[in-house]
Amino acid sequence: MRIVSSQGFELRPTTTPTDAAQRDEVLQNPGFGRYFTDHMAHVRWTHADGWNSGEVRPYGPLSLDPAASVLHYAQEIFEGVKAYRHADGSVWTFRPEKNAARFQASARRLALPELDTETFIDSLKALVAQDIDWVPTPASEAEESSLYLRPFMIASEKFLGVRPSKEVDYYVIASPAAAYFKGGVKPVSIWLSRDYNRAGPGGTGAAKCGGNYASSLVAQQEAEANGCAQVAFLDAVEHKWIEELGGMNLFFVYKDGRIVTPELGTILEGVTRDSVLQLAADAGLKPEERRISIDEWRDGVKSGEISEVFACGTAAVITPIAELVTPEERIAGGEQTEIASELRKQLLDIQYGRAEDRHGWLTRLA
Ligand code: COI
Repeated sequence: MRIVSSQGFELRPTTTPTDAAQRDEVLQNPGFGRYFTDHMAHVRWTHADGWNSGEVRPYGPLSLDPAASVLHYAQEIFEGVKAYRHADGSVWTFRPEKNAARFQASARRLALPELDTETFIDSLKALVAQDIDWVPTPASEAEESSLYLRPFMIASEKFLGVRPSKEVDYYVIASPAAAYFKGGVKPVSIWLSRDYNRAGPGGTGAAKCGGNYASSLVAQQEAEANGCAQVAFLDAVEHKWIEELGGMNLFFVYKDGRIVTPELGTILEGVTRDSVLQLAADAGLKPEERRISIDEWRDGVKSGEISEVFACGTAAVITPIAELVTPEERIAGGEQTEIASELRKQLLDIQYGRAEDRHGWLTRLA
């Protein structure tokens, strides 16, 4: 018999679900991106028929033709969204319509078909309803556990010519997650990439596509070899303007109440970035989206004008930066972490339902 979720996704449950004891053990210490739930959502698109109806099926390896164009030309995009369990057991997500809009923008840039916002959100709902037992219940306010949802879209046509694929598959997988950085929320050191750029004008910097992350890996390796947790990129033209980290946006807090983040263009339009701008304005700070140079960072910290630097993203939430390490020097991240801690608390309190959702940012998943 065909069973269909309330979102219209056909449900094909696994016959071998993870047993409860094993799942609970994973949920005790999930790390980030290591374990996956029992199901995945899937919707297929073809040039001839458009989007088919969706399904929720057992999690497992994909069967792809070796000539599938994603494997050769990296026609792929993805998103990162979290599901949070509230005290009453309900499960919510944060600003999913922003992720849906960014997914559509990424699709346009990568010549992939756009998935409408309703189907995007419905795919999250259908998967989370099926795997609801995998959504962690945080033991305390200090614990930052959630179910990380990873929607992605790949070009699956068997064809080696260089043109947009006429067959595309969209999936959502889910992974229970704790803090992104190993040390939790302790300030991290970041490495300045001098040899590699992440994006140039007209490139794919603003799209969330696998290729951007692939090209950041060698710089990330360099960061790790230099004892740093993440890599920071400068602009590709003048090599002086700060862009973003390998997987996060950056903020600079000034003593006089300004809070500056690099302007959009070649960087990722972070949902957390946008939320921080709003929360900062609510708190009476003065947000500025503009170019900020490496010299302004160095001089601002030296003079005491810049009091804090922090990174933010869905996976990392808000993480203070201890220092920027370059081959020539070490630039401190500012003396303090108060604003980062306060914004982080406000954001998490909204996400976990502990504070009023005054901007209407939450959507119930299950
Ligand atoms: C996220 O914050 O969701 C990201 O996608 C960053 C990283 C894990 C790739």
